[in-house]
Amino acid sequence: MSFRAFVLLLGVGAFVAGGVFMVLEGHGMARLLLFVGLFLVLHLLVRLVYRIVARQADAALKNPLTIAAQGFFDDLFDPMLSGLIRLLKEKHETSGRLAEVASRFEGVFDNMVEGVVVTASNSQILMVNPAFERILAIPAKEAVGNRLGIVVRETAIHQLVEEVFRTKTRVMRELGYRSRGATKVLNVVATISEPRDGSGKSYGIFLFYDMTTIRGLERVRKDFVANVSHEIRTPLTSIRGYAEALSDGALSDPELARSFLGIISTSADRLSRLVNDLLELSRLESGTVDLRLAPVELGALSDRLRQEFADRLAKKEMRLDTDFARPFTFVTDDSLLQLVLVNLVDNALKYSPPGSKVRLGATTDATGIQIEVEDRGMGIPEEELPRIFERFYRVDRSRSPAVPGTGLGLSIVRHVMTLLSGRVSVKSALGQGTTITLHLPAPSLLPPPS
Ligand SMILES: Nc1ncnc2c1ncn2[C@@H]1O[C@H](COP(=O)(O)OP(=O)(O)O)[C@@H](O)[C@H]1O
Ligand SMILES: [Mg+2]
Repeated sequence: MSFRAFVLLLGVGAFVAGGVFMVLEGHGMARLLLFVGLFLVLHLLVRLVYRIVARQADAALKNPLTIAAQGFFDDLFDPMLSGLIRLLKEKHETSGRLAEVASRFEGVFDNMVEGVVVTASNSQILMVNPAFERILAIPAKEAVGNRLGIVVRETAIHQLVEEVFRTKTRVMRELGYRSRGATKVLNVVATISEPRDGSGKSYGIFLFYDMTTIRGLERVRKDFVANVSHEIRTPLTSIRGYAEALSDGALSDPELARSFLGIISTSADRLSRLVNDLLELSRLESGTVDLRLAPVELGALSDRLRQEFADRLAKKEMRLDTDFARPFTFVTDDSLLQLVLVNLVDNALKYSPPGSKVRLGATTDATGIQIEVEDRGMGIPEEELPRIFERFYRVDRSRSPAVPGTGLGLSIVRHVMTLLSGRVSVKSALGQGTTITLHLPAPSLLPPPS
């Protein structure tokens, strides 16, 4: 039994007893008991009222709108509660509006592509957004509370921070930022936000735009134009030079004339190879290539390659060996795959010494089909490996100056592999040889004929 029930029982008991005494004996004892009973019951009543008010206030704090539903108590305790409730309702509405503004701000701040840093007027960081953490690779907890020029360890940013607070004008700068071994190009815009009425605090606002990709693409485009012009000019110059030499009298010396004509013809070959590769590459890059998928049999593929390269293989006394655990058939675009393999075998031939062997291997596993072109040639230095798929990139032109090439072959290879939903990888050891592997997805494999 609870204490309250006990008191209630006692109070009611006292009342009843008081009544009984009143009937049986008259007034003395009865009055006392009635008084005690009344006191206890009143005590409970006051406690009850207090509890209801407290509960109402509690409910109102949590959600003032529920008060309306408890109209009975509203009426009962109106004078006491209505003021309190009105106050709470107003507070609730204001804080609701504030929360909405705050959450809208947070949504924008957190989802901006640009990194944002807000600092106090002494450049101490007050807040950073997730884009800042991502772009500069600095976690918020390391940044907030520290000075911007110290958190971002880059002299140019240090100077920018100093300048914006000194001049109090908008400062904009593009700068290099080294992080995790790579250099990013950042465009930083810094401003000081002064309160409009001149009172209150001013803040430093720093926006970080990551320009790395855009600048990279611009560089690629510029390099491309420069490269194409250069690659065209070299053979053109030699064609013109030797043609002039011929017309200036070299024609009368048949021996000399033949050698000049040979050079002219080689240069013309080089030009046409370049134009062909460029056209091929632009066709692949245009995204308008329609895949013509059909079953391709490995043996037939390697036979065709061997035929195509028969002369050159013979000239260098080289062999193209096939190495398939078991021949298989798979679905792909025959002419695109042929284009890739011709480029790879061409490289293997060009960059290998006479008498060496080129291996064409193929395996399948759960991940798909791997086709390898392996040579025992000069190999590629490790640090050059990531670059050999770039357009026009040729490893140190001086190491094989006589080897003709445009530097476009492997970028064609990479494009085609993307089109075929596959990829290309390379393994190479300097002076030992190179293996280029084509990875094609598993679904292209056909079951063996039963
Ligand atoms: N099998 C290979 N062995 C050695 N070096 C290679 C091999 N394949 C490619 N390379 C290097 O990669 C560069 C790029 O190849 P590629 O794009 O086919 O251009 P290209 O053959 O016209 O020079 C080549 O210039 C060469 O330096
Ligand atoms: Mg090549």
